[in-house]
Amino acid sequence: MTTDPLAEAALEARRNAVAPYSNFKVGAALLTEDGKVYTGCNVENATYGLSMCAERVALFKALSEGERHFRRIAVSSQSSRPATPCGSCRQLLWEFAGDIEIILVNPQGSRETRQLKTLFPEAFDASFLGG
Ligand code: THU
Repeated sequence: MTTDPLAEAALEARRNAVAPYSNFKVGAALLTEDGKVYTGCNVENATYGLSMCAERVALFKALSEGERHFRRIAVSSQSSRPATPCGSCRQLLWEFAGDIEIILVNPQGSRETRQLKTLFPEAFDASFLGG
């Protein structure tokens, strides 16, 4: 158990994961600057390739509700070393949340913290598009 409500929300969101192919269930909880929490879980399907990660589900839910400023994200998974976000999620978190704090947890009680910039240095972003 953890006393961080955002980590708890990520663990709770994981219970909704649709992961019959990988059996790897992931949950995410994204905290906005004004204190709202958007959760997500991974959603797999029979094509495999169209599956969506928990982090991006949470991010897209928040963006589609008009949120633009984020403070922290918690990610829950079952591995003994709690999983870090995949490359695609790092790219999108970087663009929409910047150097956000990432809390990695599992149901066994492990809890680790990272900054996105450490996981994703020298990212491509919109600053390159101007020339
Ligand atoms: N997955 C996530 O949801 N987030 C991550 O950070 C890593 C991977 C999902 C994708 C897929 O449904 C399953 O975990 C196994 O890769």
